[in-house]
Amino acid sequence: MNHGFDTLAIHAGQDPEARTGAVIPPIYQTSTYAQDAVGAPRLGYEYSRSGNPTRDALQECLAALEGGPVGLAFASGLAAEDTLLRTACAPGDHVVIPDDAYGGTYRLFAKVAQRWGLAYTPAKVSDPDAVRAAIRPGTTKIVWVETPTNPLLGIADIATLAAVAHDAGALLVVDNTFASPYLQQPIALGADVVVHSTTKYVGGHSDVVGGALVAADAGLGEELRYHQNAMGAVNGPFDAWLTLRGIKTLGVRMDRHCDNAERIAAYLDGHAKVGQVLYPGLPTHPGHEVAAKQMRRFGGMISFRAAGGEEHAVEICNRAKLFVLAESLGGVESLIEHPGRMTHASAAGSPLEVPGDLVRLSVGIETVEDLLADLEQALG
Ligand SMILES: Cc1ncc(COP(=O)(O)O)c(C=O)c1O
Repeated sequence: MNHGFDTLAIHAGQDPEARTGAVIPPIYQTSTYAQDAVGAPRLGYEYSRSGNPTRDALQECLAALEGGPVGLAFASGLAAEDTLLRTACAPGDHVVIPDDAYGGTYRLFAKVAQRWGLAYTPAKVSDPDAVRAAIRPGTTKIVWVETPTNPLLGIADIATLAAVAHDAGALLVVDNTFASPYLQQPIALGADVVVHSTTKYVGGHSDVVGGALVAADAGLGEELRYHQNAMGAVNGPFDAWLTLRGIKTLGVRMDRHCDNAERIAAYLDGHAKVGQVLYPGLPTHPGHEVAAKQMRRFGGMISFRAAGGEEHAVEICNRAKLFVLAESLGGVESLIEHPGRMTHASAAGSPLEVPGDLVRLSVGIETVEDLLADLEQALG
């Protein structure tokens, strides 16, 4: 479909159902399908790990939004990542990972994949020379990038890193969770695979856990589809339906997340109780220019350093009321958290450890004046 983003979000993969005309794709809550004869499954559906119409609708929509031929939906973001790693890599291979990544992604590399023989090197993905230097020619199969990064909001130049990865014969994988396809489309910039925790902005309502892969190349996409079935970490039909319902409003939600985050970043920047504010929309952010080049807007995530150090950061999180103290991000409600002790605790003592005075905000779509008032009282 050659349509605009919001049209695709509402219609791609979601034609009215053929039998009844149901406007919304039904939840095909079934594990198996009656076959017309031995070896003749109807419309190719035989078992829901291998294929399910509700999941197919979501997958088609995700592929359309990211601009790739194949989209696949998984039980969680980490399940998607695991499937990708075990499709594209083998024991003895090497990957370059961000030196600032979601703690669970780091744990997957450091505590799981490494035991199976996959080596990794953390590199500063905002510095293409550092990524180039971390590549092991011949053995590096993936350059893995998050942009913006979680939780330091670092920015990687996707087009430049695609060239760096491809020169070395490696794939460029971009975790697009923080931006969402509305704000950034990595495949158009040269990425080979896009990863999502659809738990976040794509689902958008903090009511479902899921993950996605979108491949730029149909051949790689089919290999991933084979492994999705062979490894089995699929998205369930009800979860796929909830995610699709969220997707329909992705564009309007993201614009409001960005409106609110811009106001809040401007308020925090220069506040006496706040140290550095990390938001790619601020002209002082080191990745601002690259972000402006590759993103439509700058997103709803803000991190900042508490002026009073780690204890102050913890107090701010505990005092916030409207900002709910919780892990995760990307829902319509605002969340606050202390990455060092919460989402990124698994990176403690590693090169990916985050500063103790860091506070992360997932700015929701509430009335912004209420959010500003809550932060003012929480800062103390
Ligand atoms: C950037 C990023 N990637 C991947 C994940 C993992 O996704 P999930 O929690 O759905 O497994 C997360 C989760 O917070 C994340 O923030």
